[in-house]
Amino acid sequence: MPITIAIDGHSGCGKSTTAKGVAQKLGFLYIDSGAMYRAVTLYFLRHHIPFENDNPLLINALSEIHLDFEVCSTTGLPEVTLNGEKVESEIRKPEIAANVSPVAALPIVRKAMVKQQQQIGKNGNIVMDGRDIGTVVFPTAELKVFMTASVEVRAERRQKELATKGISQTLSEIIDNLSTRDKIDSSRSEGPLKKADEAREIDTGLHSIEEQIEIVYQWAKEIMQVSVC
Ligand code: DC
Repeated sequence: MPITIAIDGHSGCGKSTTAKGVAQKLGFLYIDSGAMYRAVTLYFLRHHIPFENDNPLLINALSEIHLDFEVCSTTGLPEVTLNGEKVESEIRKPEIAANVSPVAALPIVRKAMVKQQQQIGKNGNIVMDGRDIGTVVFPTAELKVFMTASVEVRAERRQKELATKGISQTLSEIIDNLSTRDKIDSSRSEGPLKKADEAREIDTGLHSIEEQIEIVYQWAKEIMQVSVC
C-alpha cells in the first residue's frame, strides 16, 4: 500500500537532506515544499509585489504563478520550476532566505501551496518536507517525523552548505536569519511550525545525516510491513 512520509522541523536542521536520502532508498518521490514558497518569493521580488494578503496585485500575481517540479539530470532529484524556468539556484540565495518567511506567513499563499502539495502527493509513495506537512498538508500521513536541532548546530550546517554553492555568510548572519525565520514560522496564524502529536522526533544534533536517513528509513519499512499484513 502506498504510504506518505511527512517531515517537518526548523529551518536548517537537515530535513531536506534526510528526506532526499529516504526517498532515494525507498524509490519514492521527494518534494521540497519550502522550494515552492521560495519560488513564490522570487516571483514577488522580481515583480515588486507587496507582501500583503489582501493586496489585489498579490492576488493577481498568484494566478500568474505556475510551479512545477522537473527532475534534474545531474542530481536525479525533482527541482522546482517557476513558469517553466529552472530556479533552483536562484531560490537558495540569501535574498530569498531573508524574505521567504513573511511570504510563507500569508494565508492566501499558504492556501494555494497546500492545495498544490496535496495534489502532487495524492497517490502516496512520497516524502515531503516542510513545516506543516504532518499537521495541515497530509494530516493522515502514515509516517510523521519532526526534526530539530539547536540554532548553532543548524547555522554551522547551513554555512557549509552555502559554501558549497559559493555563497559566503558569517555564522552570526546565519543565526540571525534562522532565528527570525523560526519565530515567524512558529507564530503565524495559518499552518504554524509545530510538531504533530503523533510525529516521531529526531534531534539532528545527535546524529549524522546517514544515521538520520537510516532511522527514518527503518520507521518507513516497519510501517510498510504492517500495512502489507
Ligand atoms: O525549508 P526551507 O528553509 O526551504 O523553507 C523556506 C521557508 O518556507 C521557511 O521560512 C518556512 C517556509 N515553509 C513553510 O512555511 N511551510 C512549508 N511547508 C515549507 C516551508
